[in-house]
Amino acid sequence: MRRAALATAVLACTALGATLLPSAAQAADTPLRDLAAAKGVYVGNAVAGGKLSGNAQYSGVAGTQFNSLTPENAMKWGSVEPTRGSFNWAEADQIVAFAQAHNQQVRGHTLVWHSQNPSWLTNGGFGATELRGILQQHIATEVGRYQGKIYAWDVLNELFNEDGTYRSSPWYGTLGVGFVADSLTWAHQADPAAKLYINDYNVEGLGAKSDALYNLVRSLKAQGAPIDGVGFQAHFILGQLPSTLQANLQRFADLGVDVAITELDVRMQTPATDAKLAQQGSDYATVVKACLAVTRCRGITAWDVSDADSWVPSVFSGYGAATLYDEGYQPKPAYRAVATALGGTVSPSPSTSASTSPTPTTSPSPTATATASPTAGTSSPPAGNRCTAAYSVPNQWNTGFSGSVTVSCPAGASLSSWHLDWDFTAGQQLTQAWSGVCTQSGKHVSCANATWNGVVGAGGSVTLGFNGTWAGSNPAPVVTLS
Ligand code: XIL
Repeated sequence: MRRAALATAVLACTALGATLLPSAAQAADTPLRDLAAAKGVYVGNAVAGGKLSGNAQYSGVAGTQFNSLTPENAMKWGSVEPTRGSFNWAEADQIVAFAQAHNQQVRGHTLVWHSQNPSWLTNGGFGATELRGILQQHIATEVGRYQGKIYAWDVLNELFNEDGTYRSSPWYGTLGVGFVADSLTWAHQADPAAKLYINDYNVEGLGAKSDALYNLVRSLKAQGAPIDGVGFQAHFILGQLPSTLQANLQRFADLGVDVAITELDVRMQTPATDAKLAQQGSDYATVVKACLAVTRCRGITAWDVSDADSWVPSVFSGYGAATLYDEGYQPKPAYRAVATALGGTVSPSPSTSASTSPTPTTSPSPTATATASPTAGTSSPPAGNRCTAAYSVPNQWNTGFSGSVTVSCPAGASLSSWHLDWDFTAGQQLTQAWSGVCTQSGKHVSCANATWNGVVGAGGSVTLGFNGTWAGSNPAPVVTLS
């Protein structure tokens, strides 16, 4: 197994000022997000704000392997409006900021659901007029707050019973089926560019529930309601994927909507065995291949970063081990199966001991430093009291690498903006940058701060992240900070 994975985790953590942990958070192969992007899809995960800021292994995996994030709970009604008219956006804002800092899109989840609502709403006994007003206000407020920052919203979640009848909920019971089109219309008014989805589970294959959803989407399209996509949660049981998955995705796509896998996990009865983990890899790969085979399938979101984070054990008694990473944040066979299905060339599976031992951090990291006079401050600082830029490539694989440049200022110096220049002398090519804006012309790379991280305070630092390609050698350039 390749061993250079620490770096991307460190990169993400450094940008957040979090503690660095000396263990690998993911395989050192091409990140899933790059493989997915090359196939024209995204790959995402569900995240919690507390873990993004408090668990460096978690944030390292979330920030480097995925290019889409879904707040696991932070945007649900009970989270954002626990008391009527009193909003709490802290965790949702944090996740959106993390996503922006890591060049990730966000799937908003979810606006209208029967579950995880605040008690003032479920027990309010509201009549139709008042309830309709409450719903409109909620959608306008939440979608409006994140206008321009959300790629797609799960506007409506889990509308149907297994037999295809509408699930009883305050919405359906009081407002009738009109709440579906109304919700889409209000969301569209608040953010015309966001893709608006209906999301559900046990609709991945053909069947009564899937038929009900299909008929709803067809009728919404016929009415001209703003429906852009259908989300298939895909909470699967090991070895029990519907054989009609791809055909079902395709029939929805043929209605003229996007489709996406929105909450993928594959649970098994614990304990996990090698045979079960191999089957799980095959199941994950089946889902990825089905999505890739359907042109309008936009991407795949896994539900929870690691087995330590998964919602499964607390909800499905006796089941677990449902995600791509084990409880120590080591990639499982399912991770490698997803990478392979996305066209990646992956390292062999680690042995059991390798997957449970801390990974040594012995990879040599090319580094280079530069200095710059601060542009802010009342007097010129003495020599040696300058802001510096440190270039680092801690994660490198066969044809690609992830790098970073950390701009640091000592006490007594600061920057109000920063600019970095360097020459790639061995043909390296930048493919992606985050937490900064970069262009490459020939061998010359020029990067400026993002709008939000130009200021580097005294004693502070910011980190620019990037991916690139290389061949032959990958020497560290000399970076100029200005
Ligand atoms: C789950 C979360 O993962 C848990 O943390 C929470 O306690 C309950 O909700 N379908 C959905 C998701 O649409 O919002 C659910 O998420 C899982 C099932």
